[in-house]
Amino acid sequence: MAVATAAARASSAVPLLLVLLMLCIVGASRAANVTYDHRAVVIDGVRRVLVSGSIHYPRSTPDMWPGLIQKAKDGGLDVIETYVFWDIHEPVQGQYDFEGRKDLVGFVKAVADAGLYVHLRIGPYVCAEWNYGGFPVWLHFVPGIKFRTDNEAFKAQMQRFTEKVVDTMKGAGLYASQGGPIILSQIENEYGNIDSAYGSAGKAYMRWAAGMAISLDTGVPWVMCQQSDAPDPIVSHSILAAGERTPTLTFVAVPRVQINTCNGFYCDQFTPNSNSKPKLWTENWSGWFLSFGGAVPYRPVEDLAFAVARFYQRGGTFQNYYMYHGGTNFGRSTGGPFIATSYDYDAPIDEYGMVRQPKWGHLRDVHKAIKLCEPALVTAEPSFISLGQNAEGHMYQAGSLCAAFLANMDAQSDKTVKFNGNTYKLPAWSVSILPDCKNVVLNTAQINSQVTSSEIRNLGSSIQSSDGSSIAPELDTAGWSYAIEPVGITKENALTKPGLMEQINTTADASDFLWYSTSIIVKGDEPYLNGSRSNLLVNSLGHVLQVYINGKLAGSAKGSASSSLISLQTPVTLVPGKNKIDLLSTTVGLSNYGAFFDLVGAGVTGPVKLSGPNGALDLSSTDWTYQIGLRGEDLQLYNPSEASPEWVSDNAYPTNQPLIWYKTRFTAPAGDDPVAIDFTGMGKGEAWVNGQSIGRYWPTNLAPQSGCVNSCNYRGAYSSNKCLKKCGQPSQTLYHVPRAFLQSGSNDLVLFEQFGGDPSKVSFTTRQTGSICAHVSEMHPAQIDSWISPQQKMQRPGPALRLECPREGQVISNIKFASFGTPSGTCGSYNHGQCSSSQALAIVQKACVGVSSCSVPVSSKNFGDPCTGVTKNLVVEAACS
Ligand code: GAL
Repeated sequence: MAVATAAARASSAVPLLLVLLMLCIVGASRAANVTYDHRAVVIDGVRRVLVSGSIHYPRSTPDMWPGLIQKAKDGGLDVIETYVFWDIHEPVQGQYDFEGRKDLVGFVKAVADAGLYVHLRIGPYVCAEWNYGGFPVWLHFVPGIKFRTDNEAFKAQMQRFTEKVVDTMKGAGLYASQGGPIILSQIENEYGNIDSAYGSAGKAYMRWAAGMAISLDTGVPWVMCQQSDAPDPIVSHSILAAGERTPTLTFVAVPRVQINTCNGFYCDQFTPNSNSKPKLWTENWSGWFLSFGGAVPYRPVEDLAFAVARFYQRGGTFQNYYMYHGGTNFGRSTGGPFIATSYDYDAPIDEYGMVRQPKWGHLRDVHKAIKLCEPALVTAEPSFISLGQNAEGHMYQAGSLCAAFLANMDAQSDKTVKFNGNTYKLPAWSVSILPDCKNVVLNTAQINSQVTSSEIRNLGSSIQSSDGSSIAPELDTAGWSYAIEPVGITKENALTKPGLMEQINTTADASDFLWYSTSIIVKGDEPYLNGSRSNLLVNSLGHVLQVYINGKLAGSAKGSASSSLISLQTPVTLVPGKNKIDLLSTTVGLSNYGAFFDLVGAGVTGPVKLSGPNGALDLSSTDWTYQIGLRGEDLQLYNPSEASPEWVSDNAYPTNQPLIWYKTRFTAPAGDDPVAIDFTGMGKGEAWVNGQSIGRYWPTNLAPQSGCVNSCNYRGAYSSNKCLKKCGQPSQTLYHVPRAFLQSGSNDLVLFEQFGGDPSKVSFTTRQTGSICAHVSEMHPAQIDSWISPQQKMQRPGPALRLECPREGQVISNIKFASFGTPSGTCGSYNHGQCSSSQALAIVQKACVGVSSCSVPVSSKNFGDPCTGVTKNLVVEAACS
C-alpha cells in the first residue's frame, strides 16, 4: 500500500523507468539460502558476524515497533529476536488471535522493512517471565496431558501450534528461503537445564521436538538453547571401498539439524556439541528482570561490552541481547509469581522506547569495532596468544587480513602487554579490539559515548503551562467516581464443596482472584475462644491473601518472588451466632520456569484453623463456597463503554479501604513524550486506560533494605544480584501508558484497588531526555578517528568528544557545563577541578550550540594547557530543545 502511494506520487515527477526501478528496489524480496558451518551462520554462501537483540512484540505497541527497530538498527544490530507467545495467540483452544499487539506477521514485516533479519523463537514454551511460560492455561486441562515430556496429548498440541506459526510465517512469505527476514528459528527453550527431572521420557521428548521442528521444512536452521545434547548434524557411515580391507568412515552432513546454543551473562567458554556447528549465543542478559518486592537490577555496560567482545574474541559469530528492549508486561501477562509490570531489564532501549545511555551508545561502538573485524573473523581460525596470567589475545589472520582481541580478565589489575611488537595498556576486566592487529579502535572499559540523564516530569493532575495552554493531563473536574467491590460471594453460580481447592485448577486463571467463603455458628463457650477472640491460621500456596471476618478485613499477607508460600496467623473477633469467614486469594502471575512449573499451585490449600487456649477448630474440610473473580470484573467496570449503575460520583470517595474500584477522566499530556502514571499513594491493583489494562500496579511492595550497592564495580563476574538499586524503596512506582492507548480529548482511567489507597495522589509523568553529557580523556584511544576517512583524520587527530541530540529536529540549545582539566562528578552535577581551562565553555558553545550534533577535539591544542604533565579530561553537559 505504502509502496503504491509512494510510486503514484513519484510518477508525476520522474520518468516511468525510474519508478519501475524504485518499485524493484522497494519491493525486492530475494530468497536467501541460510545454512551454517563450524564458524558462522552462512547467508547465501557468505559467513556472517551477526549482532542480534530481543524485542518482544506484545511488550510494546505496534506504533512503537518501527521506532524500536530503527533504534536497534542504528545501534548496530543485524537481527531482531522474538519469542512467540502461545497464550495470546490462542486464548481459547482453537481460536486464534493475531491482531494489534499480537500481530506477529506485522512485527516480522516491520523488521524486514528496516532491512534486518529475524530469529523467531517459537518455543512454544518460552519462559520469558511470561504468564505460565507462554502456555495457555487451558492446555493444563487437556485430558491426560503432561507438559514438556514424552506425552502424546502434549506433543499433539505443541505440534499443532508450532505448525500454525510456521504456516502463518510461510503464508506471509517471511522465511529467508522465501525472501523474508527469518534466518533462524528455535524450538523449546532451555529444556536441557531441567530435562533430567523428566528422566528418559524427557530425552525422548527432546528428540521428538527436534525432529518435529525440522520436519516443518522452514528452509532455515533451527536452534535449541541450553541443550548440550541437541541432535548432532553429523551421521557416520562406514563404507568399504573396493579393494580396501578397513572401512573408511565418511561423515555426511544432514542439513538443518538442531544447533545447540548458549544463554547466560557470559558465553565465551561455550563450545557447541559438534564441530560442524557455529558458536551462537541466544541470550546475553543485558540486565535482569524486576520483581515486585525486589530491588532494581542493572548491569554496567563495561561488563556487558566485555562479555560481548570476549565471545567474538573466542570464536563466536552470533550473539543476541536478551533484552535489547524489554518493554512492559501489560494486562496480566507477567509470569512469576511476582514479576513486575515493568520489563525494562536495564536494556539498551528503555521500557519507554528511549535509548539508554551510555549503554546503547557504547554497545553501538563495540558493534562497529567488531564489524571492522568481520572479514578476518569469518575467514581465519583464531590463534591464541598468551599475554601472561589472566590475560590472553586471539588473532585472526589470513593473507592481508588481520584482526586481534587483547583481553585482561583480571578483575583488579590493569596490565601492560606486548603484542605484535607494540605495547598495549589493558584496563582490568576489558578487551581491546584491533581490526588491523595494530591500532586499538575500542577498549570495552572505556566509554566514549554520550550519557543521557532522562528526566521524569511529574505533571501532577492539572498544570497550566506559562503560555496558558494545558500541558498536563487534566483530571476531570468531576474527580473520581467509585464502586465498592463486595466482600465474599455475590455471584449466583458459586460452587460449594467440602474442603479447600487449589486455585489455578479452580479459576483456570480467568481472574487473579478466588474467594473462599464459609461461616461458623458461635455459642460463646467454644474451646477455640478466648473471650470473643480467637486466632485464625491460614496456610496458602500464595500469592496474596486477605482474611475478612464478618465483612471486615482481619489480616493480610503476601509471598515473595523467592517463596510464594503464606502462613498467616491473625487474631480475629467473633460474635455470638453466625460468623462469616471470607478468604480472598490472589495470584500475581503464574510460574514460568523450572521442571514441572505448570504444577506449582496457588491458593488456600490449608490448614485453616481457629485456635484458642483450650482447643482448636480445623475448618480445612468444612464446606467452602467458591467464587472465581470479582463482581466488578463480571460487570466489566474497567470498560468505559459499559455504563454501570455501580459507579457512585461523589467527591467524598472512600480512601485507604480495600476492594474499591475508582474511575476518572483525563486529557492526555500534550506532545509525544512517553507517558507513565505514578501510582504512589495507591496500594496494589490493576489499572485500565480506555479499557486496556496497563498491568498490575503495586507501589507499596518495597525492596529489601539491604543488598544494594552505591556504585557497582563492573570488574569481575556479574550475577543477577550483583548490582541492585532502590533498596528499601517501592520496586515500581511508574507504569507505562503507551501513546497508542490514549486518545485526544477525554480518556478513561479505571483502577481496581485491592489493599487501599488514595487516588487523589495518582499523577501523570512524561519521560524526557534531560541533559546529554559526555566525558572523554585526552588519552582515550582515538577510536572514532579510525572510523573516519584518512582526510578527516589528518584534520582531526586525537580523541574527540561527540554530542548528539536524541530526537530528530532537536538542536543543542545550551551548554550547561564544560570543563577541560580535572573535572569531577556525574551527569547533572559536574564540578570544575583544580586544573581547568578558562576557555572550555566558550569553545564548546561555539562548536555545539545551534546544531544537532557536534564533535570537539579533546586536546591542549584546542583548549590551551591548564596544567602540564597532568592527563586532562573534557566534560560537557548540554541541553537539547
Ligand atoms: C532464561 C530464559 C528466558 C528468560 C531469562 C531471564 O533462562 O530462557 O526466557 O526467562 O532466563 O530473563
